[in-house]
Amino acid sequence: MRFLALVPVLLSAAALVLTLLCLFAGSKQGFMEDYAIVTLNTSRIGASLLNTTSSGSSNPIISYIDNVTNSIESEINDGLASFARDLGLHDFYSAHLLDFCEGYYTPGPVPNSTLSRSQIHRNVTSCSNRTAMYTFNPRETLQKELNASGHSNINLTDLDWPSDVDKGLHALIIAQKATFVLYCIAAALIGFAMLLALISIFMEGRLSAFINVLVDWFAFLAIGLASAIATAVAVKASDVINKYGDKIGVHANKGTKFLVLTWVATAVMLVARRRNKRSAPRKGGYIDEPRY
Ligand SMILES: *[C@@H]1O[C@H](CO)[C@@H](O)[C@H](O)[C@H]1NC(C)=O
Ligand SMILES: *[C@@H]1O[C@H](CO)[C@@H](O)[C@H](O)[C@H]1NC(C)=O
Ligand SMILES: *[C@@H]1O[C@H](CO)[C@@H](O)[C@H](O)[C@H]1NC(C)=O
Ligand SMILES: *[C@@H]1O[C@H](CO)[C@@H](O)[C@H](O)[C@H]1NC(C)=O
Ligand SMILES: *[C@@H]1O[C@H](CO)[C@@H](O)[C@H](O)[C@H]1NC(C)=O
Ligand SMILES: *[C@@H]1O[C@H](CO)[C@@H](O)[C@H](O)[C@H]1NC(C)=O
Ligand SMILES: *[C@@H]1O[C@H](CO)[C@@H](O)[C@H](O)[C@H]1NC(C)=O
Ligand SMILES: *[C@@H]1O[C@H](CO)[C@@H](O)[C@H](O)[C@H]1NC(C)=O
Repeated sequence: MRFLALVPVLLSAAALVLTLLCLFAGSKQGFMEDYAIVTLNTSRIGASLLNTTSSGSSNPIISYIDNVTNSIESEINDGLASFARDLGLHDFYSAHLLDFCEGYYTPGPVPNSTLSRSQIHRNVTSCSNRTAMYTFNPRETLQKELNASGHSNINLTDLDWPSDVDKGLHALIIAQKATFVLYCIAAALIGFAMLLALISIFMEGRLSAFINVLVDWFAFLAIGLASAIATAVAVKASDVINKYGDKIGVHANKGTKFLVLTWVATAVMLVARRRNKRSAPRKGGYIDEPRY
């Protein structure tokens, strides 16, 4: 048995674990919450409306704000209280591959002189049910929460929720679904590649080596494509939300940690592929001890 032949097996196993982590990150409350694809920060939603308060308006959000006592209003202006919480919304919504989670920033949503950004943590309160081909729809989610908290008279349109955000995210629905499918295919192919690498330790043959290389190549292609599309979705979604949501105090962050994770998985698979190719038997005979 060639000991070095174990290297592709171990590398494929590592790539498989990383791919599965990408797929299941955030799928349970508190499980790898930081590894969201995009996080929507709604803690300041509507705060820009506070200053435009005019009595007797028919806009229910304005009359709601008229009811907000002055002390709360100044707290909201100082970033101490969250307007979102007042309306029954959460501070953040993080979109993962299988679901979204929601929660509050602790100790407060906005950094100030005594509270640096790195001290702000996410406190997840709940996650949606896991759904295959899940797509994140912030307008529907936010409206549902407004309804659930007894603010169904407030239409998200009253909060000036930009329809351009909906349009921009709608354009990404196919890509989001494709990403999920590609991660599943990648996980299956990488698992298969690992199995073949394991088998090839005990059974050497030119045909099995050829199938090995082929499966490795497709597995690498699938995880690479999944990573590329996930990156595009994260960048595009946060761009469109920040571009149009800025004026109503909605902000989005792309999930840097998730992107690092998925590209590391791709890189590990690339190395596994190269190792496997090099330790495969060469034309005209078998090499018992590879010369590297
Ligand atoms: C509202 O006005 C106050 C004082 O005029 C200002 O300090 C605050 O930043 C304004 N808030 C927003 C959200 O524009
Ligand atoms: C404003 O407050 C009054 C009394 O607290 C309440 O009856 C009314 O429904 C409130 N209006 C809004 C729009 O919340
Ligand atoms: C900073 O924010 C925290 C949490 O919201 C609050 O407790 C603290 O008083 C704030 N500090 C200043 C200087 O505003
Ligand atoms: C959330 O968004 C607000 C407004 O854009 C910003 O001031 C705040 O720093 C953000 N908080 C976090 C934790 O990203
Ligand atoms: C997170 O939220 C829960 C309730 O939703 C609360 O009991 C807990 O203390 C919070 N954790 C932190 C670190 O603030
Ligand atoms: C989530 O699943 C539970 C049980 O499986 C179900 O009762 C609940 O209605 C589901 N929630 C949503 C939002 O679909
Ligand atoms: C919220 O409530 C309104 C009116 O009560 C209803 O028309 C709308 O469908 C609800 N939206 C959601 C997302 O449940
Ligand atoms: C919110 O307002 C828009 C346009 O004003 C309307 O098309 C939509 O049905 C309303 N949604 C709810 C839940 O009332």
